[in-house]
Amino acid sequence: MTPRHLPGGKPGSGPPPGRKFQQWIDWASPPGSAAQPTGTSTPPAGELSRARIFITGSTDGLGRAAAGVLISEGHDVVLHARTRERAAALSDLAGQVNQIGRMDAVIHNAGVFLEPSRAATAEGHAKTLAVNALAPYMLTALIGRPDRLIYLSSGLHHAGAGSLRDIDWTSRSWNAARAYSESKLHITALALTLARVWPEVLSNAVDPGWVPTKMGGPAATGDLQLGYLTQTWLAVSNDAAATVSGGYWYHRQRQAPAAQARDPAFQDQLMDRLAALTGVALSLASRLRPARSEEIPGDPSQDPCDT
Ligand SMILES: NC(=O)c1ccc[n+]([C@@H]2O[C@H](COP(=O)([O-])OP(=O)(O)OC[C@H]3O[C@@H](n4cnc5c(N)ncnc54)[C@H](OP(=O)(O)O)[C@@H]3O)[C@@H](O)[C@H]2O)c1
Repeated sequence: MTPRHLPGGKPGSGPPPGRKFQQWIDWASPPGSAAQPTGTSTPPAGELSRARIFITGSTDGLGRAAAGVLISEGHDVVLHARTRERAAALSDLAGQVNQIGRMDAVIHNAGVFLEPSRAATAEGHAKTLAVNALAPYMLTALIGRPDRLIYLSSGLHHAGAGSLRDIDWTSRSWNAARAYSESKLHITALALTLARVWPEVLSNAVDPGWVPTKMGGPAATGDLQLGYLTQTWLAVSNDAAATVSGGYWYHRQRQAPAAQARDPAFQDQLMDRLAALTGVALSLASRLRPARSEEIPGDPSQDPCDT
């Protein structure tokens, strides 16, 4: 695969020649001198031979480190720099990804943390909600369905449980920490919803721990490497432990997510709210045929000879 600049990129300033496994969307700056990624996603025998993975927000931090590991393992990684939080920009981005071809995995990594104010986007949404929840929701809806979906959550999502009534912070006083926690609850619930309704896709959420990135800051006590190897492992490993769906992970160990994130009624309400806010409906129908016990007797559309 030859690297190429997609619409929105900066011609002549992309990845260095000879870097074969990168494509840049809305290219901003190449991987620089920050901590070089080390470690592997999994022992080679368990990996997909060569997967194509799209990682949002991969110019810095955990996204860039995850991209570095996957590129070094020989995978095709589609990188992504900052996108304006506009529906049209997200729609363009999804179109560019779809033009490249079907992704084997998508890592929804881009995120913002403590925004000093609601900071309304062009569409009038709270920026934290827009970047951390609306954007991954929209991209999930608009990008061709991959085999694996990974959503970057946070242990702070536990503090986000509560009502969906003012999800967009139009009537509450702004609380940056609460807004972040809620957005991470939403993305965790999104991951678990998809695990429930798309059984053909492996969908998981990951808490990377508090790690020293631009977001985590220099005082972070977590191990940076352990912070990104879970998402690369879930993206490409064929190990039995990694090929599961509906997990909330921390350092390759499953943990219990907030009860609300696992609650189908909450998930359904959240999907309705996200659809209403974005104007984009995520198809919740599985591509798998229903199990025989769910088949409707006498329904001619369910011809058992129809594979
Ligand atoms: N670091 C931690 O301790 C920690 C803990 C729990 C969860 N997480 C989660 O892990 C993920 C990655 O965090 P990180 O620590 O690597 O953060 P980071 O170092 O701040 O990197 C975040 C990445 O997201 C990108 N981004 C921000 N806004 C964007 C937008 N509107 N469109 C596209 N890209 C955008 C950033 O681009 P720019 O460089 O242009 O800003 C950057 O590449 C986030 O979802 C975060 O919530 C991190």
